[in-house]
Amino acid sequence: MALRICTASSCRSRGGEALRQALAAVAPAQGEAPMVTGVGCLGPCSDGPLLALGPHLFSLQTPEPEPLARSLQQALARNALEQWQPPGSALIPAADPFLRLQRRLVLERCGQIDPESLEAALASDGYRQLRAVLQQNDPAAVVEAVRCSGLRGRGGAGYPTGLKWATVAAMPGAEKRLVCNADEGDPGAFMDRTVMEGDPHRLLEGMAIAAFAVGAQRGYLYVRAEYPLAIARLRGAIAAAEEQHWLGSGIDGSRFGFHLELRVGAGAYVCGEETALIHSIEGGRGTPCARPPYPAERGVFGLPTLINNVETFANVPVLLQMGPDAYRPGTKVFSLTGQVQRSGVLEVPMGTPLRTIVEEMGGGAPAGRAIKAVQTGGPSGGCVPAAELDTPVDYDSLQALGTIMGSGGMVVLDDTTDMVDLAAYFMAFCREESCGKCVPCRSGTVQLEQLLRKLLARQGCPADLEQLERLCHTVQQASLCGLGQNAPKPVLSTLRHFRHELMALVGEP
Ligand SMILES: Cc1cc2nc3c(=O)[nH]c(=O)nc-3n(C[C@H](O)[C@H](O)[C@H](O)COP(=O)(O)O)c2cc1C
Repeated sequence: MALRICTASSCRSRGGEALRQALAAVAPAQGEAPMVTGVGCLGPCSDGPLLALGPHLFSLQTPEPEPLARSLQQALARNALEQWQPPGSALIPAADPFLRLQRRLVLERCGQIDPESLEAALASDGYRQLRAVLQQNDPAAVVEAVRCSGLRGRGGAGYPTGLKWATVAAMPGAEKRLVCNADEGDPGAFMDRTVMEGDPHRLLEGMAIAAFAVGAQRGYLYVRAEYPLAIARLRGAIAAAEEQHWLGSGIDGSRFGFHLELRVGAGAYVCGEETALIHSIEGGRGTPCARPPYPAERGVFGLPTLINNVETFANVPVLLQMGPDAYRPGTKVFSLTGQVQRSGVLEVPMGTPLRTIVEEMGGGAPAGRAIKAVQTGGPSGGCVPAAELDTPVDYDSLQALGTIMGSGGMVVLDDTTDMVDLAAYFMAFCREESCGKCVPCRSGTVQLEQLLRKLLARQGCPADLEQLERLCHTVQQASLCGLGQNAPKPVLSTLRHFRHELMALVGEP
């Protein structure tokens, strides 16, 4: 029986790696396989550091390496590993809603295998779909399978993935490019980080399949600099995959080649916007430009380019393995955080009610408090008020409420939250991150923040609320890229669902 210890960023920050080393030092390898394996995210991060022993998951509440290692050594000496409970730990039973209500497809191997081992990925079906696709040698069939699966982009906008792939595939010319957007800049979002840290080969397999389907020979993986562990694991995974011919020239003995380069961003939120990201890859300043032309027509170095998000690519091997019909409607990975009892990363069927995620899986608000709202979609999204918690989480239902599902960041807010202050926080974020290229965003975000601060200081009047709303629409309609076009959304969401809080600030009942 193997011991798995989470060594992803969250548990690592609580000593997960030191625990792994201490336990590995006293646990002998079983044949070829180590008894103690460092794995990707196991889910309930707020209970970390986490240790899994067979089907049992333990929250190590007093994570001192030496006593834990001693206790393991004693259990091994008694041949009683299966009954071992780490001292001072709490068992998180498999029936716990956080674990039970998940459907881990994208995260299937995350938390199960050593993410730094290509052999471990291969032993659990890694690169199997790539091999099948190359043997079939029918790129159009792959595009069709993706289209039939109904997969939509997980980066925020929800554009149909099959349609995007078909557009790039149909572009004339022999040279095409592929980009994976791993910039993940939304506050409270850490789903893509989880995939990259926990199962990098799944992402690489999805990218290679996509490259084959659209006819791209080169690709770029654009990762934000703030993710050093993901970067290190991806670098290792790319090198291992190249060595064993799952990337590079002549993949798996075929005539297909795909060369992948990792690029590290420099910390600008706007570089997650696809045209700014492409400029950044080209070595230019990370600022956006007007579309059309879309990257599918003119992308990296002027070539037709397929750009998708990490989770979008990571879905591809799964949907091919299951078949499009069995796969639909797929799943969504969320990072649950904020004023909630249990935070972490979870994957649920698309359309799961928000209440299930926040109250059942997350345990609801902290003791003595009530949930006021859930913020989704980061600075491009808005708030779902507590009264609407039965809303199914999918692209269209959240849009109808004036927010977006976005890339999957979910921040729970309890009844101590000042919603106007929250709107001002997001506006300050957008003001800070505006690249300054277009006036409506550069100047509009400043003015919107000033108006909100004026209201918060109780120096506003009812006419300011009208101006706030007007300015929101102007910035939305006149900005060059999605950053400015979406920046007013948190304010509009507050106007829609929490207008009374704004009215109270200007002395209106
Ligand atoms: C300001 C801004 C930031 C963005 N940041 C990201 C990001 O971090 N990751 C991402 O995948 N998409 C991000 N997007 C969306 C991308 O522009 C693009 O739509 C996405 O990468 C396409 O992939 P998908 O179709 O798989 O979602 C951002 C958009 C805007 C306007």
